[in-house]
Amino acid sequence: MADTQWWQHAVGYQIYPRSFFDSNHDGVGDLPGILTKIDYLQSLGIDFVWLSAFYPSGNVNSGYDVTNYRDVASQYGTLADFDRLVTAFHEAGIKVVIDLALNHTSDQHPWFQAALADPQGPYRDYYLWQPATATVQPNNWQSVFGDSAWTYVADQQAAYLHTFAAEQPDLNWRNPAVRHEMVQIIQWWADRGVDGFRFAGVTHLKKRTDFADVTPATAYYEDVADTVTLLADLKPVLVKNHLLAIGEAGGIDPSTAQRWLDPATGFFDLLLEFDHVHFWEQATPKLPVAALRATLSRWQQSLEGTGWNTLFIENHDLPRAVSYYGNDQGEYRRRSAKALGMLYLLMKGTPFIYQGQELGLPNAGFTKIADYRDLDSRRYYQRQRAAGVAEPQILSQLALRSRDNARTPMPWTHQQYGGFSDHEPWLQMAPGVAQINVERESHDPHAVLPFYQQLIRIKKSVPALRSGRYELIDTGDNQLYVYRRTLNGDNWLVVVNMSDQPATTQNFDLTTSELILTNLPVDAASDDRQIQPWEARLYHWRRLE
Ligand code: GLC
Repeated sequence: MADTQWWQHAVGYQIYPRSFFDSNHDGVGDLPGILTKIDYLQSLGIDFVWLSAFYPSGNVNSGYDVTNYRDVASQYGTLADFDRLVTAFHEAGIKVVIDLALNHTSDQHPWFQAALADPQGPYRDYYLWQPATATVQPNNWQSVFGDSAWTYVADQQAAYLHTFAAEQPDLNWRNPAVRHEMVQIIQWWADRGVDGFRFAGVTHLKKRTDFADVTPATAYYEDVADTVTLLADLKPVLVKNHLLAIGEAGGIDPSTAQRWLDPATGFFDLLLEFDHVHFWEQATPKLPVAALRATLSRWQQSLEGTGWNTLFIENHDLPRAVSYYGNDQGEYRRRSAKALGMLYLLMKGTPFIYQGQELGLPNAGFTKIADYRDLDSRRYYQRQRAAGVAEPQILSQLALRSRDNARTPMPWTHQQYGGFSDHEPWLQMAPGVAQINVERESHDPHAVLPFYQQLIRIKKSVPALRSGRYELIDTGDNQLYVYRRTLNGDNWLVVVNMSDQPATTQNFDLTTSELILTNLPVDAASDDRQIQPWEARLYHWRRLE
């Protein structure tokens, strides 16, 4: 696959608008707030932003329960604010990608309200209904929250399907009218100047039509590899408007990704898959480095020449990488945050950075259930309590795993509330923001932020790091992750120690190589074979094969 598209040489930055910057003193981030931070994003060196959902919503699931696809939630601003923001981003040379929740609407959306009000009307078939009674659900299908995926509506003696919360009824993607609505919505935003979409949860779109019981009870998606045929109606509007199509595609394998990314017959340009970020879910005390190497390498190799990888280690649905992959304690926080940054960002593909990641921001780690806002976390707490699990145990799990860990407000200064707002924020700040904030890190050459700036600059300026082949190097040491990028005989080597222990490697000779970037002072890195805990090095590897 050629790499001539703008997004193949770009670095993306995900903004969670609720937590980026509050310009109107209500403790909630907003679009005019983002506008005031464009200089910062420019100084980071990114090329496009992905704005998480900002639509009017029922606010049940962090804005992904949309009530109107053609507006901005009033707490985030107005459409005029959005237009100003897009114009300002474009003037700064930054493209704008927005989120689109395709799988479901809010139960407050006019389509669903019309479906409830008139079972004979055209909107009923926008959703998925099956006959039911108050006590008998249509089948065993479960939502992602572990309860029934059906909610019974007594008036209609039927239940509607919801993969997520009951307030998020699933759309019926086999209905051409639904697909047509989405085409029009995409065109409407394209007319406002957006450059692309992140399509949420696309692997959920195609459900079984027999409504039979399934095992496990959440596996009611049918022939997922074929989901792109359901999306085919949307392709012309993307092509016509030159829109970047990013799919959130949890659970797909590399061969499906190849099909979905095929420029002629596929649908997406980039896919956010989660194989490499699920290790934190395992209750192992240490990161399984071998499994991580195998997973990331499998994706790198499978898409070589057949697709283009998307590189990320954080988003608004995951805990902070420095806390679950790295070590967020003491001196290792900065060092492991930088090591993780180098590890993923210099692989082949388009990197995404999630707000705060570039500061090495750790998990929120809240200690009281009252501090959590995320529906998923609150439901988890309730389920575990009901199952008799002790509260401290549940809270320690949430402190590791909750999505709120990464949704804390962005710390801009050392002032109260991290300078995010002068009003108490909707969610508490992460710990340590008196030290970990943009202002401070901008003036500290050893902080994580300048390291990210360097990484981005290097990634974009070295052709081999953009387009070169990825090759995993076996070091014979389980803590190390070493890979090479090669283009036309130009070799670059990334060496990362993914642990708190020093490592020694014998398997490669670096004597003729030039050290380009490291997260330790140069003298400490002088012994080629001794790799310190969480040390990361980038070499221009002169030795030719
Ligand atoms: C998307 C969002 C996630 C949300 C889910 C269900 O995957 O990223 O935050 O919970 O959709 O609406």
